[in-house]
Amino acid sequence: MTLYQTGILDDVPSVARYLTFSHVAGTDPVPSLQALVEQVDGDLLVVGLGRSLVLTLGADIVALKNFPVHVAANIEVPSTPEALWCWLRGEDRGDLMHQTHQLCGLLAEAFECHTLIDAFKYGDGRDLTGYEDGTENPEADEAIKVAFVQGMGAGLDGSSFVAVQTWVHDFSQFNDMNQQQQDNTIGRRKSDNEELDDAPLSAHVKRTAQEDFSPEAFLLRRSMPWADATGEGLQFVAFDRSFASFEAQLRRMVGEDDGVSDALFTFTRPITGSYFWCPPMRQVNGETQLDLTAVGL
Ligand code: HEM
Repeated sequence: MTLYQTGILDDVPSVARYLTFSHVAGTDPVPSLQALVEQVDGDLLVVGLGRSLVLTLGADIVALKNFPVHVAANIEVPSTPEALWCWLRGEDRGDLMHQTHQLCGLLAEAFECHTLIDAFKYGDGRDLTGYEDGTENPEADEAIKVAFVQGMGAGLDGSSFVAVQTWVHDFSQFNDMNQQQQDNTIGRRKSDNEELDDAPLSAHVKRTAQEDFSPEAFLLRRSMPWADATGEGLQFVAFDRSFASFEAQLRRMVGEDDGVSDALFTFTRPITGSYFWCPPMRQVNGETQLDLTAVGL
């Protein structure tokens, strides 16, 4: 039976922390990763490995590429590679704080925490602009098909690829728009989440309509709002069985297909962009644990 990190499929939690770690040069990452394997349940803690870490381990996960940079007029989509990604999911910020300390301690010999984003669920699952986020996500068996690798053999089956971007919203821009302009930016009505038939081509859901790509470009999005003293926005998180759908979506958002860029860029911009491989789980002596056999552990 193929086992995956179940937190990927679950609804977004009330609160979460997204942590990235860099590998400390000259240290052996293996003991820390072995300790991590014992801790990861794949549910309240979801983990992804970056390409640099996979290469450090002397392994190769072919589909784990570098995050692509895009530059267009008034648009910059940066690529900010990281070694390790941890998504702590819970109901209580206090618990997440204690788990963060435990996790950083566990990894300390070879990894340094590089970024930490505190995220939360807004209302019934909205972006901070007030628009419902995730409406067109695949569900149940469809979600499993979209998000997890199948047919590639033990160690890879049940794994997933995740694209992560921190987007920073500019609410002085967004709040200057009237309701119709805001709805046209997203392509849905904020009041009832109805899709607008006459939305402009630049509307976000016109740019990203999953069935409109060839092949279709479905993603399992698990994004969450974030806010801290530096600002606020969306931690965009999308799981895929490869990065093909995400890259097709992003190209169309920046206008590379038809010269029309996504209206989202009028009020928000990504400041990070990283790819990770989320390993599957496996049964060892009756216990379910992270399966790092594909990277030689
Ligand atoms: C600040 C950044 C973003 C915000 C605020 C945002 C917000 C939204 C909202 C409100 C919807 C409509 C409801 C839904 O179906 O979820 C949506 C749909 C969608 N977004 Fe985004 N999004 C962002 C970035 C992205 C990025 C970077 C991608 C992919 C590269 C993406 C892919 C999609 C897809 C695939 C859909 C569903 C389209 C459909 O099939 O109808 N989004 N987004």
